[in-house]
Order: sequence, then C-alpha cells, then structure tokens
Amino acid sequence: MSALTDCLTIAELKELARRKVPKMFFDYADSGSWTESTYRSNEADFAKILFRQRVAVNMEGRSLKTDMLGQEVAMPVALAPTGLTGMQCADGEIKAAKAAEKFGVPFTLSTMSICSIEDIAENTSKPFWFQLYVMRDRAFIMRLIDRAKAAKCSALVLTMDLQILAQRHKDLRNGLSAPPKFTPKHIWQMATRPEWCLGMLGTNRRTFRNIVGHVESINDLGSLSEWNAAQFDPTLNWKDIAWVKERFGGKVIVKGVLDPEDAKLAVAHGADAVIVSNHGGRQLDSAPSSIRVLPEIVSEIGGKTEIYLDGGIRSGQDVLKALALGAKSTFIGRPFLYGLGAGGEAGVKHALDIIAKEMDITLALCGERDVCNFGAHNLYENGLMKR
Ligand code: GLV
Repeated sequence: MSALTDCLTIAELKELARRKVPKMFFDYADSGSWTESTYRSNEADFAKILFRQRVAVNMEGRSLKTDMLGQEVAMPVALAPTGLTGMQCADGEIKAAKAAEKFGVPFTLSTMSICSIEDIAENTSKPFWFQLYVMRDRAFIMRLIDRAKAAKCSALVLTMDLQILAQRHKDLRNGLSAPPKFTPKHIWQMATRPEWCLGMLGTNRRTFRNIVGHVESINDLGSLSEWNAAQFDPTLNWKDIAWVKERFGGKVIVKGVLDPEDAKLAVAHGADAVIVSNHGGRQLDSAPSSIRVLPEIVSEIGGKTEIYLDGGIRSGQDVLKALALGAKSTFIGRPFLYGLGAGGEAGVKHALDIIAKEMDITLALCGERDVCNFGAHNLYENGLMKR
C-alpha cells in the first residue's frame, strides 16, 4: 500500500498534498477570502443535512450514471475549473484531464490554467469544457473563445462572480505568482518538496499558457492579484452571455450564481445550465454556502435549465445531498486538487474513486439503486425533507 492508496477520504488526500506541494500553491487551493467564513460554511452546511435510512430494499444493480448537458457521465460530478492547477503538480491540468476522461466525468480547464487549451486537446481524446473569464481585452477573449472552439471544447463555462478579485490573505502573504519567485522563502518552500521540484524540472509548462504569448506585452504575470485587478472586466453584465454564446456556437454554462434573482436573469439571457457557486468561498465572504441557497434557486428556475452546484463537496454523501436538494449534478475543485497534489493522475483517479464509492454505498443505504432517482424523499426530517 502506498501513502496514496492508504488515503480513505478526501481529508486524508488533503493532508498528503500538504506534505507534497510547496506551501504557496497548497495554500492557494486551501483558501477563502478574508475571514474564510463562507469557505468554512460551504463544508459545514453539508454536515447539517441528514439522510433518511431505508432497509430491506433490493440493493442490487446500482447505477451512478447520469447526464450533464446531454453528455453521459459516470457519476454526477465534473471537475471544476481551478486556477494554477499545473502548480499543484507538474502538467497538472493534463493529468487531471486524463484521469477525468478515463473515469468518464467532464474536465473543465480554467482560463487561469498553467497548461493551455491546446496542451489539453493534444493529450486527451474526448471533448473537455473550457472556463472563460471575460477580460478588458475583448480581442484576446474572442481569440480565446475561438481557440476553445478549435480544440472542440463541448461547453463553455462562463464565470460571472469574479469581475473583481476578493482578497485572499494567504496568497498575499505568500507572494503567490507563477512561475514562483526565487526569494529565499520561495526557494525554501520548493526545496522541501523535492518530488514536486523534479516534476517541474521535467516540464516547460510553468506559467499561464492560455495567456502568456497570446497577449501582446504580457510575458509573465508577476503578481497574480495585481494582474487580475488590471485585466478582469468589471463591466461584465448579463448581456455578455449572448455574444459569448454566439462566438462559441455551443452550450454556455453560467457559473457563480448564488441568488434566485440572478438565476432568473441567467436563464433569461440564455444560460444552458447554471452552477450555483460562491467560487469556493473565495469571493464574497459572509455569502451563504452554496448548498444553503440551492433550494431557493431550484424553486426559481428548476425545470427551466440544468442546475449544478459547487462549493464544499468533500464526499460522495455531499454529492447525494446536493442531488436531493435539486441539483442535477455537481462540480468538485479542491477534492481533485488534493488528489493531484498527493499523487498526480493516480491521485485524481483516487479522489474520484473515493467519492464514487461513498456515493454508491450511501445510495444503497438510503434504499435507492439509481442515482437519478435520488431526491428530497431521501432526506431525514430537518426542514428539508418533502414527501
Ligand atoms: C480563480 O479562479 C481563483 O479563485 O483563484
């Protein structure tokens, strides 16, 4: 048994990743904005939801299969777009995309990734999804959309909740950048993670390859927070969905919706699906958890579009709770990043295996065999159960 396969939970993968990834990059994943209260409540609110146990129900022939935007998926989970994934582990986005493809769940590449759209397309065989941040330089954004189209991405995930970057104290204190700076502090953080260093020496993918070399005058992104402040478009609005969709010519998933009014606006402006999300607690601190607002959003737009949820999912049980409250599927960010940091492609597979196994057995213990039938009737009376 290796340290990786010894991990039985996502929490254990997180601790293994902490030992393998330089602090500045581990912290980037493991952080929320300001007091991190929303980051914490994303996880804590899942723990308050209880299942209804059923017994003596035939448990044979269970299935976790469902679909997202008409695409069959092995379980109701997609890999969320996460920035700097290729800094958790060398070529991280390629490794995560390969693990997702083999498992049969969608992989979403972030605009702020280390490996580029083209890197992923060259190293995978099925279409992946691309997450778009709209920046002030619209000509660059048009080219980025065209590149996603050329790479045959089957959906675009348009993030609406990061027109301006919230403050994450750890990133500022760590002096986060990609590639990392070579100050004594940064050198120490890397030198104490020799396996990570070896991986990084073996790749030339060490900066934001969707951006560097594709925008005039940008050769490196120095301080990430300063670059975001200068580039991200604070005027982004609902009408932008239409031109993004037209340019891409495919389905657009709108990410970052946390309010029923906004959910209604997203649908009215053409969203093909909506991700209920507070950006993993990384943007508006003291916003409610994603799982807490999910029922309100479902009652506003349920049946009009597919609703997904991200934020706080750390187990297969959490996925089922989101489904019971009306999500069609979910996205995981940190769970796969911890797997990646802990063990590269095998670590991402391990994270997906942990979640699938937890989901499969919990499904059975709730008296269900098909994940698509999981619903409000599977929750214990806690104000959420409707029978
Ligand atoms: C970018 O998406 C971030 O949350 O850092």
